[in-house]
This record gives sequence, C-alpha cells and structure tokens, in this order.
Amino acid sequence: MDICYTVKEVRTKINEWKKQGLTVGFVPTMGYLHEGHKSLMEAARAHNDKVAVSIFVNPMQFGPSEDLKTYPRDFNRDIKLCESVGVDLIFHPEPSEMYDDNFCSYVDMNGLTAELCGKSRPGHFRGVQTVVLKLFNIVKPDRAYFGQKDAQQLAVIKRMVADLNADVEIIGCPIIREADGLAKSSRNTYLSKDERAAALILSKSLDLGKKLIEQGETDAKKVIEAISNNIKTEPLARIDYVSAVDFNTIKPVDKIGKSVLIAIAVYIGKTRLIDNFITD
Ligand code: PAF
Repeated sequence: MDICYTVKEVRTKINEWKKQGLTVGFVPTMGYLHEGHKSLMEAARAHNDKVAVSIFVNPMQFGPSEDLKTYPRDFNRDIKLCESVGVDLIFHPEPSEMYDDNFCSYVDMNGLTAELCGKSRPGHFRGVQTVVLKLFNIVKPDRAYFGQKDAQQLAVIKRMVADLNADVEIIGCPIIREADGLAKSSRNTYLSKDERAAALILSKSLDLGKKLIEQGETDAKKVIEAISNNIKTEPLARIDYVSAVDFNTIKPVDKIGKSVLIAIAVYIGKTRLIDNFITD
C-alpha cells in the first residue's frame, strides 16, 4: 500500500495505473475510520482494480465554532484498517498541500444546500464540494463511494458531478449501524456513557417514523411530529432539525411518496449527530 502526502506522488501512481488500463475506486474520508468507511472501501475493492482512500480533515467544511481542532484523528490505526481491506493507496495531505496561500476558487451550489445541514452549517457544503472536486481532479477515479448516512452530502455530490460534468460515477452505500442501531460515526467517540445510551433516541425515533409510513401515513407533518415528539422524550437530546425532503432535490415535501429522505440532526449533549432513512 502506497502512502502519499503530495498531489504529485498521487498523480504519479494513478498515471501508472491508468497507463495499464486499470480502474480506480475512490473513498474520500476525514479519517478516524470505522465500519462505515470500511464498507465503502470494500465496495470499492469489489468493483475496481485499484482502491484509493483520502484521509484529510478538511478545514474548509468546518464552521468557526465547530470541532475542527478536536475532530478525532488516528492515522496509524487508519493505515491498519485500510491495509485490512486491501487499499492500494492512501492520500494524506497537509492542509497547505490542498490550499496554498493564494487559494481563492470554490465550488458552490444553489438549491440542494438550502435545507437540513446546509441550513444549520452555513458554508459547510461549499467546503465539501470544493475539496471533493479537488480530490476528484487529483485522483481521477472511475467511481467514488459515499455513505448514505450523509444523505444530503451524497445528493449534493451527485448534483455537482452532473452539473460540472465530472467524469466519475458516484456510488451511494447503505448506513452501517452498531448492533443497537446507532449509526456509525467518527463523532460517536465524543459521547460519554450516558450520552451514548441517549443517542439511541435517533435510530429509535426514525424507526417509529418508518413504521408510521409502512402503516400508510403519507402526511409529512404527522411523521415529522411523531419523530420529533419521540426525540423530545430523551432529556439529553436537543433537536437541530427533523425534515422530510425529496432525496434528489432536497426540497421539503408535504406528502410522503417514493424517494423521500427523512433526515434528523440532534444534539446529544454537545455532540451533533445525524441519521436518516429514504423511502422506497
Ligand atoms: O464525509 C466526509 O467524511 C467528508 O465530508 C468528505 C466527503 C471526506 C469531504 O471532506
């Protein structure tokens, strides 16, 4: 497995592979890898000749009062996880390698970023889109893998790729959960024992919403209300949002039909967690 710290090193390796006609699957990450990332790497491993993973805590996607400084990092552990899946290349740049002193170009979007995390975290998706397009330009993958846990991110990246004709296929992969239902996230590590127990309210409340829909409820307001009321029964939880939007456009819906994203963001103590499901 190659570990590259510069754009030049990555390009040299990728160009070698491309000359041999090999396909490249890419998993962009911010490190502190868990089973969720592993499932993306396994999907990339299964469908491509070579697998590249980036590990970069992207400063541009964090707001001024967010957790950039404390975001968990463990590069040595990440290396082992990548090796265990048969990853061929890790790109682990310093921020200065990605953003030089004169950096001033950004990728932004109208529409899909107006709701959900885009509303709560202004500038977040501009940072995500900018770094992801840069990474695509550096790695030139045939396919790139994103988790459905960040469903709005997945929709935004798909839209960006279509709008800007980026030559890469975007593959969405299912949410990976702990045995008790909590969606895997690097930020779960912030939770105390009590908060970890309280965090189950996210998946439990979504399950309740899912059940209502399965029983025939199509009124988005009623589903949102039921989910919200259930979250409020947990004293350590504070709702950021509970929303029902079209998965492709991220526009709020009144009626729940196919491809509706039911998404929640909830603070458990100081930790902001997200989770969701998409209707069939
Ligand atoms: O989902 C993430 O970990 C990040 O937003 C990403 C896609 C790696 C961009 O920094």
